Amino acid sequence: MSLLDARLQAVLDLIPAGSTLLDIGTDHCKLPAEALRSGKIASAFAADINQGPLDAAKRQLLSLGLAGRIPLFLSDGLKSIPLEVLEQVTTVAVAGMGGEVMEQILKNAPLEPDLWVLQPMSAIYELMDYMAAEGYTVLAARLAQDGDKFYRVFQVQKTAIPYEADYFEALREDPLYLPYLQKEEARLQIALKGLQSAKTPDAKRIEETEKLLESVRKSYENRSGNL
Ligand SMILES: C[S@@+](CC[C@H](N)C(=O)[O-])C[C@H]1O[C@@H](n2cnc3c(N)ncnc32)[C@H](O)[C@@H]1O
Repeated sequence: MSLLDARLQAVLDLIPAGSTLLDIGTDHCKLPAEALRSGKIASAFAADINQGPLDAAKRQLLSLGLAGRIPLFLSDGLKSIPLEVLEQVTTVAVAGMGGEVMEQILKNAPLEPDLWVLQPMSAIYELMDYMAAEGYTVLAARLAQDGDKFYRVFQVQKTAIPYEADYFEALREDPLYLPYLQKEEARLQIALKGLQSAKTPDAKRIEETEKLLESVRKSYENRSGNL
């Protein structure tokens, strides 16, 4: 049985077969362990900023008969990963943390891997704006659903050619696209109401939320025009 839920499975789906994987913020090490166990990849490294998760990772690997197969590093992002390890890595996965933290991890990477696979839990549009401004091209994107929660996964590569972020375009062919847009529209409408009824309304955030709602609506129209 797989160790992965729908969210982490979507992350694994965007990791190319044969990658040498580095999983940042690995916690329980499920992603690299499953990638290795399934035979999708032959080599993996994992890191976390905290010792507790690394201890959990060690126990997990021991229980799976993978002790010593995935070297573990205590590191903030890629900062303390030895250079000789980074030179072997082809894909870096960063899943299950905030978009702001991911932005810092991208910014502070001492070496650029071939590919990043990112699954932000929050500040997704801000991360997309950052990636667009810095030229991280989105090569593939996925949605995953767990109960009533949706998760977005991005496979990106730094080309350093800036572009304007299109928040939904890369998901058009995803089977979860429509339910995701509906959920996002409802969420943004609630957020907008909250912002508008605040004692001192934040004009900038209201404008940003309105823009996002407009973008969701346009995506519906484009989608129906395509049916
Ligand atoms: C919620 S867990 C996610 C675990 C796993 N990646 C997943 O998606 O299920 C987030 C992990 O990221 C680690 N973390 C947070 N910031 C980090 C950073 N800057 N560098 C490395 N690890 C970080 C935390 O210690 C924690 O173990």
